[in-house]
Amino acid sequence: MNAVGIGVLASGRGSNFEALARAAQEGRLNGEVRLLVANVAGAGALKRAQALGVPAQFISHRQFNSRVAFEQALVRALEAAGVELVCLAGFMRILSPFFISQFPNRIMNIHPSLLPAFAGLLGMQVHEAAIAAGVKFSGCTVHFVSEEVDAGPIIIQRVVPVLDSDSADSLAARVLVEEHQAYIEAVRLYCERRLEVNGRRVKVVTA
Ligand code: GRF
Repeated sequence: MNAVGIGVLASGRGSNFEALARAAQEGRLNGEVRLLVANVAGAGALKRAQALGVPAQFISHRQFNSRVAFEQALVRALEAAGVELVCLAGFMRILSPFFISQFPNRIMNIHPSLLPAFAGLLGMQVHEAAIAAGVKFSGCTVHFVSEEVDAGPIIIQRVVPVLDSDSADSLAARVLVEEHQAYIEAVRLYCERRLEVNGRRVKVVTA
């Protein structure tokens, strides 16, 4: 099987990007991270890409006067790099139906909760909401991106306990460890052509 071309979109730190890029470089998935795009200058993800030798581009949404014009630039960059699968990893822009239609069931996102709980929240807000709600377990979800935010077909979830002593920071750190594993696993399954999407459900086909 040919390696799947992967593109990652990020806005910040980039630890999920790094987990995916390393897994690909170490041959733990049948894919190659061909491009990292960050829309924020100085994003940690750009520095990590440089350190890992992954081609990277900074494309600011501010350079464009519409969402679609920004997204057209993203599509051009991703296609030029030979990207089949787009992975959102802390990408802080909502994608329009135009972008989503360019990569049908070929865009994944990671969210730091057990969706559909705490959908639509960003960053630390997710963990603050989980603690405030008194849930005993939280975790992360990798899902395909659909037009409704944080509501596309779920591929993988991983669970962590929420401890009485937790702060949003300590819970975020525990969830992040699982995020990296979950994202690698979801992309690995995709690259092995083992994900079958049926409505909102994703079936993992045995190898
Ligand atoms: C992660 O918690 C991810 O779930 C959320 O944004 C954060 C990005 O972290 N969507 P990183 O930039 O991958 O380190």
